[in-house]
This record gives sequence, C-alpha cells and structure tokens, in this order.
Amino acid sequence: MSSGLFAFYSLGVYLAVRSLTTLRCSLFTVSNSLLTMNLLIIGATGGTGKELVRQALELGHSVTAFARRPQRLRIEHPRLRAIKGDVLENKTVAVAMQGQEAVLCALGHRRWVLPSRILSRGTANIIQAMKQYGVRRLICETSLGVGDSVGRLGLYYTLFVIPFVVFFYFRDKGRQERMIRESDLEWTIVRPARLTNGRKRNDHEHGMDVGHYIVTRSIARADVASFMLSQLDNTTYLRKTPALANRWPWDRSRT
Ligand SMILES: NC(=O)c1ccc[n+]([C@@H]2O[C@H](COP(=O)([O-])OP(=O)(O)OC[C@H]3O[C@@H](n4cnc5c(N)ncnc54)[C@H](OP(=O)(O)O)[C@@H]3O)[C@@H](O)[C@H]2O)c1
Repeated sequence: MSSGLFAFYSLGVYLAVRSLTTLRCSLFTVSNSLLTMNLLIIGATGGTGKELVRQALELGHSVTAFARRPQRLRIEHPRLRAIKGDVLENKTVAVAMQGQEAVLCALGHRRWVLPSRILSRGTANIIQAMKQYGVRRLICETSLGVGDSVGRLGLYYTLFVIPFVVFFYFRDKGRQERMIRESDLEWTIVRPARLTNGRKRNDHEHGMDVGHYIVTRSIARADVASFMLSQLDNTTYLRKTPALANRWPWDRSRT
C-alpha cells in the first residue's frame, strides 16, 4: 500500500472512531439525565430515610428531605434541600411537593403502644399533595406482617410482638396501605423484614411471597433504600407490595 493511501485510510479510521465515541458519550448523557429525578423523601431523618437521601444523591438525583428536625440529617450536598415540616400538616407537605417527580416515604414513629393515626393521616396528606401537583410515583415502606403478608414476619412477631407491642402501629400501617392502594397513583408498597443498621450487602431477595411463617428474617435499612430507589425506573412492582429480606445463608453461598 502506498504511504499516501495508508495515511488516507488511517485518517478515515480515526474520524470514524472519534464520531462513534462522541455519539456514545452524548447518548449516555441523555439516558443518564433521564434517570435523575427530583425526589421528595419523607421521614428523611430516620434510619431508612437517611440512607434514601445518601444513596439518591449518589445516583445523581435532586433531593428534598422532609423532616420535623432537618438538623438531624447531617448531610450537606448541592443537590440536597431540606424542608422543615410535619407530615400531619397538609400545607407544609404541599409546599414540599411542588416541582417533585416522585415521592419516597419511610415514615415511622415510636408511639407503638398508643392508638395513633400518624402513618395514615400523614399518608393521606402526601397523597392529596401528590394529586394537587400531578406527582404520580409513590414508593412507600411499610412492613412484612401487614395486609396479605400477615404471618410472614415469623412466629415471634406474629404471636407476640405484633399483637402485644405494636398492635396499634400495625393497624395504622394497614390503614396506610389501604389508602395507597385505593389511590390512582403509580404506587409501590415495599414491605421489609426486620430492619438492621448493617451495611448494604446487595444480597437480598424480593418478591410477593418473601418472608417466613416461623423464622424472622432481616434486611439492612441500606438495602431497603437501595431497592426503593431501584423502583423509580422499574415497573415490575407497579401497584404491588413486594417484600424484602436477606437471602438465606445457603442461597448466599450458592451465588
Ligand atoms: N424496625 C423494624 O424492624 C421494621 C421492620 C419493617 C418495617 N419497619 C418500618 O419501616 C419504616 C422505617 O423504619 P426506620 O426504623 O428506618 O425509620 P425511623 O428511624 O423510625 O424514622 C422514621 C422517620 O419518620 C419521621 N416522622 C415521624 N413522624 C413524623 C411526622 N409527623 N412528620 C414528619 N416526619 C415524621 C421521623 O422523624 P423524627 O426524626 O422527627 O422523629 C423519622 O425521620 C417504619 O414505618 C417502620 O415501622 C420497621
């Protein structure tokens, strides 16, 4: 091959590779920006809530953290905005809802032994504000043992903890779930097993029949948050109630 022809051939190959690389980069940027959203996180100062905030920011989302005491969040980031508010006050929930594209709710409290409607009333305000501002996607954490998952938090919880310790709390969780199911939103109710503060393991199973009638299974809050965020662009569990738990040890060793 003459040196002139070789130079011409090399230039052609170089230009083709360069334009392919540019095309790939711009496609990646478009798809990446489609995946990032404006998220409202309710219960942002709680165990799961903090994980939701941290991981959502890592994924590039813009986050509004809704909390009664935002100073407890102790996370600073240019894409993080904290709004002080109580979920029982519909006006503050509505203010936080403006401009959002999805809501992640990890609401919970410790007034288990007293009759209360904090979860259901708060959720009613969230649903109302979502309708007001046309926000469609709601991903809400409740618990295994609620609704049609009764019994699947293991014997100890079914026979002792739920009836004697968190009876009123779980009744309110039932009301909270019913409200979400009856809304016409694009909802997913996430029902985790017993929560731990362990590190994210990415080694859990999810599904409509996860849980166990005898053994109480567990999962880290960090894994619950990761699963909830993964549902933002996934319709597998749209209007469904998946449960989450760590894999059984013998399943882990196989994978
Ligand atoms: N513990 C378990 O083993 C287990 C198992 C399965 C499911 N769950 C459920 O999973 C959910 C998350 O649990 P978690 O332990 O990660 O959360 P958590 O630490 O109990 O946090 C709950 C969050 O809700 C917020 N909150 C409570 N009342 C509020 C109100 N009126 N207005 C605004 N925010 C309010 C709290 O704010 P403050 O910081 O201001 O209190 C806190 O940020 C709960 O519903 C829990 O019942 C728990």
